[in-house]
Amino acid sequence: MNPIDYLRISLIDRCNFRCQYCMPEGTELKYLLRQEWLTRSEILLLLREVFIPLGFTKFRLTGGEPLLRLEIVDLVGDIAALPETEDLALTTNAFYLGKMAQDLYDAGLRRINISLDSLDRETFDKIIGNRGKSRWQQTWDGIQTAYKVGFDPLKINVVVIPGLNDREVPDLAALTRDRHWHVRFIEFMPIGNANLFGDRAWIPSEELRQTIREKWGLESAAVKGNGPADIFKIPGAKGTLGFISQMSECFCDRCNRVRLSADGCLRPCLLNETGQIDLKTSLRQGIPTHQLRERVRDLLALKSEINFKERNSGTAGEKYAKTMSQIGG
Ligand code: GTP
Ligand code: 5AD
Ligand code: SF4
Repeated sequence: MNPIDYLRISLIDRCNFRCQYCMPEGTELKYLLRQEWLTRSEILLLLREVFIPLGFTKFRLTGGEPLLRLEIVDLVGDIAALPETEDLALTTNAFYLGKMAQDLYDAGLRRINISLDSLDRETFDKIIGNRGKSRWQQTWDGIQTAYKVGFDPLKINVVVIPGLNDREVPDLAALTRDRHWHVRFIEFMPIGNANLFGDRAWIPSEELRQTIREKWGLESAAVKGNGPADIFKIPGAKGTLGFISQMSECFCDRCNRVRLSADGCLRPCLLNETGQIDLKTSLRQGIPTHQLRERVRDLLALKSEINFKERNSGTAGEKYAKTMSQIGG
């Protein structure tokens, strides 16, 4: 079994975007109250006394949109300063990166993954559910700022939706030709949003690779990361292309991660809530951290049994209590 050493920490369940695939229209979202969030000191306590002693060394901060959490820069500083931290990363929509990128870098963050589904303003606004003034430019400027500040690797996540942004795949791939960016194409996953785009909501990565191969050529490559992406590059390009193919391939047997929600629940698998542990309530009830560590250890031992069972039973997407934005991707 793969070592489970990567924790995705959701800092907030709110987001300033409303991407169709992540928070489908019509879903009633009940946001957590601020007092339900794990506090900065609870997060650090859990890292120091529960997760790090169990071998966790890689951490990713997610949301909702993690830049909406006011203490984000301090939290980055805290986690970057832990001697056991080998890798610290953040997933964001970049809207506030223009003003925050330098502070995050100075606090010790070195790598960042950004969602950007379209280079076309109208398509972008449609996907992110924006009906007011376009948000494309500020997002794009945020990405440029992060690039200038020096985040490396800087990854761009594109969820490819047939009929929405699939025709842009060659142009998005071409961003890597003269920039050290890593553009990753993600197969849409029906989670909390089954039937959103009909029967054929995702395009197999191999089809995208074929399109890119025909236009630009494609060769294998490698880049730093902990995730499930298969990496390629356009010959001669500065950056790389990644393909995250959770629908056409099952990579659960190499899964290395668990997820901590903003309200402190530890979720063993993206697609399966079985065995979830409410660490925040236990902490607030005064249960000692060595006991929580034992519970987490037991859950990790069961993880390979829990992994992605829903996928195999054919019910994925139908019965999740949480949307992707609440889980943090
Ligand atoms: P690095 O490779 O470490 O940079 O990160 P990552 O790719 O794990 O993180 P990111 O937050 O950018 O996630 C990108 C996408 O990967 C998510 O939208 C999911 O679609 C997919 N993904 C991440 N983790 C999992 C997982 O555990 N299971 C599945 N099925 N998909 C995942
Ligand atoms: N399928 C695939 N990827 C998704 N993301 C959000 N919802 C989905 C979904 N249903 C992606 C976002 C972000 C990452 C954390 O998760 O684009 O980049
Ligand atoms: Fe891991 Fe579950 Fe994601 Fe599969 S679906 S990669 S087992 S978290």
